[in-house]
This record gives sequence, C-alpha cells and structure tokens, in this order.
Amino acid sequence: MNDNYYKTKESVEEYIKLAKDVDGRQLIEKLNDYLPSNSLLLEIGSGPGTDFQILKKDYRVVGSDYSTEFLNRLISLNVKDEFLNLDAVTLRTDKKFDGIYSNKVLQHLIDEELKKSILRQVDLLNSNGIICHSFWKGEGDELFKGLLVNYQTDESLRILFENYFEILLLEEYNEFEDGDSLLLIGKKK
Ligand SMILES: C[S@@+](CC[C@H](N)C(=O)[O-])C[C@H]1O[C@@H](n2cnc3c(N)ncnc32)[C@H](O)[C@@H]1O
Repeated sequence: MNDNYYKTKESVEEYIKLAKDVDGRQLIEKLNDYLPSNSLLLEIGSGPGTDFQILKKDYRVVGSDYSTEFLNRLISLNVKDEFLNLDAVTLRTDKKFDGIYSNKVLQHLIDEELKKSILRQVDLLNSNGIICHSFWKGEGDELFKGLLVNYQTDESLRILFENYFEILLLEEYNEFEDGDSLLLIGKKK
C-alpha cells in the first residue's frame, strides 16, 4: 500500500483541491443529537480541517492526523487550537475525551487495525463516551491512489463495534452517490 498519499506536499495539495466541496456537516448535525455541546472531542484524521472548523462551533475539539504535512498546515492555520500527531490504529495519547469523531478515515485500516483502533478508542473515552465515524459502504476492499479503501456494511460494522459500543445510530447517507456511505454513532458500554 502507498502510505504516502496523505504525506507529501504535492498529494496533500491535490487532495485539498479534490475535497474542496465536501464536508461532514450532515454527520455533525447527527452527532449534535447525542454529544452535548462543549464536550471535549477528538477528531481522528483532521486532514484539511474542513470538519474541524464545523466541529469547533459546538465542541472543544482536539484535531489530529498521522500526516505531518497535514498537521503543520492545520497548526499554522489554527494557531489557537490543539493538534496531536496520532495514528488512528495506536492513538498514543494519555488524554481522555467525551467523544471521538472521524469522517472517511477509518476505511484506510484493515479490519485487524480497526479492531485495535476500537480498543484504543474505548481507553480514550470517558464513561458514556460517544463515537461518530463514517465509512464507505460496500463489500471487500480496493486501492484508490494507492490507499486502502476497506468497505463496510451495516453487518460488518455491528460485528466490529457492538461488543464495546451501544449502537445509537447506523444509517446510510449519500456522499457522491445514493447510499455510498455509512454513519455510525455509538456510546461506550
Ligand atoms: C479523507 S481525509 C479526511 C478529511 C477530514 N475529515 C476533513 O474534514 O477534511 C483522511 C484523513 O485521514 C488521515 N489518515 C489516513 N490514515 C490515517 C491513520 N492511520 N491515522 C491517522 N490519520 C490517518 C489522512 O492523513 C487524511 O488527513
């Protein structure tokens, strides 16, 4: 797998152009139904920071990414905010959060990595903590620009998450095409 796509200046600039009309507003509106405003929220894979800006209106958000290219850009554009260099698999921080959010990030993990990430998310969350994650809906996996896209279904997400999280919402939504995406919101058991 080409892990570099999000890590070079050129590809980060390309990604920012490709994603300029996309944001997670519809997901964040759903999250608002479950996570009280002013909660402390970790965003995994903040990337260009589009969702970070929306989340900031309601929450105390700590942004993060594993790409120093994205992180440096985020830090220079948001000097008053906090960002962590975190890999979604290991999530190495001692901080605790009321919620954890990601939008189209966890599809880059194979299921074994996703299982590790889920366990770390349980550790990082305060009791009754809320997760809100989006995925591409489908079966199997493929490479896009050298990056893994690990598709998920309602069923596969339930199997991965439900031992640790009460599923509060699991629904299809449209990113580019009808029903191409899934949103999962859960509460730590
Ligand atoms: C599709 S973008 C997310 C965009 C973001 N939600 C926004 O609002 O613009 C995916 C992001 O996840 C990050 N990412 C991919 N794999 C990661 C991993 N294993 N750990 C942490 N971040 C990762 C990438 O660097 C990129 O910033």
